[in-house]
Amino acid sequence: MKALQLLLALLPLASSFSHPGLLVAESDLARLRGKISARLDPWQACWSSFVNMAPANLPYTPQAVSSVDRDAVGSTDSNAYLLWTDAAAAFTLALRWKIEGNTSYADAAATILNSWSDKLTSIGSNDDQYLVAGLQGHELANAGELLRDYTPFRENGLAKFQTMMVDVFLAKNIYFLEHLDGSEHNVKHFFANWELAQVASAMAIGVLTDNTTTFNFAVDYFKNGSGNGAINNAVTNIVQEPDTGNPLGQGQEEGRDQGHSALDFALLGVIAQQAWNQGEDLFSYNNSRILLGAEYFARYNLGYEVPFEPYTNGLVSYTEISSGSRGDTRWAWEVLYNHYVMIKGKQAPWTTKYLNKTYETYGGFEPGSGSFGSHKVSGYYDTLGWGTLLYHLNETDVASLRESTTSTSATHRSVDTLAALIKVPEATKSISGSSSFLSESTPTVPASTATSTATSTAASTAASTAASTAASTAASTVNLHPGQHAHGHQHSHHAGPQKAASCPLPPKKQ
Ligand SMILES: *[C@@H]1O[C@H](CO)[C@@H](O)[C@H](O)[C@H]1NC(C)=O
Ligand SMILES: *[C@@H]1O[C@H](CO)[C@@H](O)[C@H](O)[C@H]1NC(C)=O
Ligand SMILES: *[C@@H]1O[C@H](CO)[C@@H](O)[C@H](O)[C@H]1NC(C)=O
Ligand SMILES: *[C@@H]1O[C@H](CO)[C@@H](O)[C@H](O)[C@H]1NC(C)=O
Ligand SMILES: *[C@@H]1O[C@H](CO)[C@@H](O)[C@H](O)[C@H]1NC(C)=O
Ligand SMILES: *[C@@H]1O[C@H](CO)[C@@H](O)[C@H](O)[C@H]1NC(C)=O
Repeated sequence: MKALQLLLALLPLASSFSHPGLLVAESDLARLRGKISARLDPWQACWSSFVNMAPANLPYTPQAVSSVDRDAVGSTDSNAYLLWTDAAAAFTLALRWKIEGNTSYADAAATILNSWSDKLTSIGSNDDQYLVAGLQGHELANAGELLRDYTPFRENGLAKFQTMMVDVFLAKNIYFLEHLDGSEHNVKHFFANWELAQVASAMAIGVLTDNTTTFNFAVDYFKNGSGNGAINNAVTNIVQEPDTGNPLGQGQEEGRDQGHSALDFALLGVIAQQAWNQGEDLFSYNNSRILLGAEYFARYNLGYEVPFEPYTNGLVSYTEISSGSRGDTRWAWEVLYNHYVMIKGKQAPWTTKYLNKTYETYGGFEPGSGSFGSHKVSGYYDTLGWGTLLYHLNETDVASLRESTTSTSATHRSVDTLAALIKVPEATKSISGSSSFLSESTPTVPASTATSTATSTAASTAASTAASTAASTAASTVNLHPGQHAHGHQHSHHAGPQKAASCPLPPKKQ
């Protein structure tokens, strides 16, 4: 109570944002520097993979163009990979600079961002432009956020970069979430991943540009939006786990396939972590609805059955869960596991096991974009990843985070948020067995399901330097194994055909 009063007294400061304050906070950087210098796993194993991949190394040549598109236009091939590989590289190089202190990496990251700010005006001509707006929007904003205190960039680049992010990306994020596109006369037309990407991007650009209106717009949409990017629509039903009766959250895309459902949880982790670093606790929102959904996904994708409530948005209907791409692993689980289990002290048995599966798949850590898979397959670049570097905590780390919670709360924005954060230490309890991850360092596994075989086979060869080779050779020769196919078509479809009879606007392509 005393702490709350103290914090309330500091509320006049509440309009300021913490920087860096999106996927990475200063405390994450400090912790990681310590882990790397002490050569502790799993951080060290992850760091080796990170610094050995091509985009973490110089020279890096930016590929900026004036117009990108996820689709071929006339005789012009799709070229959005130029943007998503550069976004991943800019984030990577900025993070490497933050950890190692070598300004060559900051300069290279700045060069990438500046070259896009100088050129980019268009991100596509059909619906897929919104995927670029959301997915690459949040990635670029995160790169810029990490670099914003690098003086040469702050003085010559940041303002121009912010303008591009607002004009080219945020404008689309908001247009889409306000359902102004013709297809969106049914506000549930687009699957959750489309809208979650816009929420992640709008929130990130709000912080990047110190714009409270934009940040609050994204938070409000998450809590109370009318489309599938609002959490109560992204996780449609609360069902009971067989045997235990525990609540589980059925995801909006569970009847569609598991690859897109995995993307939803990757994006929900991004959204909640970005908000958390600004003092807004979306992880706990509505009985930790994100976690209920993650537990449902993880249980099913580990090979266990889950209840399924019929789903329809009036355009597509599902009566059973889809086994398509079941067992899909994306880089999504470190942030969820460490937040809910380590920081909050919650039970999250399926999420815990899914992180374990992730470690087994990728060689003892959760990797990120640029280290794995073809650079032309969007699914490897939808979110930035590197959760082991950024979020993995041991018990000592958790204790020091709790200590710092009160002192950093001055930047937090609302009474509700302050109260939520103050409760964190009370809710926390010690978790045994979490250190089992620390000893994981060998790739083991081929996943048990057919659809993830391609991913894990690739993973066993990928460990560190092999990954960049794979990325550079994969381009046009890539063979779409089932797992990769799921990635490649991650979000190229929305919720199905419009019925002309009920639709006053011309039908759009699926
Ligand atoms: C910084 O990084 C560059 C590029 O890898 C390297 O050539 C240079 O030696 C590094 N500088 C220091 C001081 O380590
Ligand atoms: C903040 O962003 C909103 C859109 O979210 C925009 O209307 C407003 O002009 C921005 N404010 C500033 C100061 O740029
Ligand atoms: C949710 O939005 C509706 C209108 O769309 C509004 O009436 C209501 O107050 C909002 N609730 C919250 C919690 O923001
Ligand atoms: C929480 O979810 C339930 C449905 O499961 C919904 O009725 C309720 O309005 C939600 N509450 C908030 C605060 O979003
Ligand atoms: C992770 O999997 C390994 C076997 O691969 C097992 O020994 C370990 O107990 C598992 N850890 C957790 C937390 O499930
Ligand atoms: C956690 O890691 C730190 C280094 O970051 C180390 O000093 C500490 O002993 C570790 N704590 C536990 C419980 O392993």
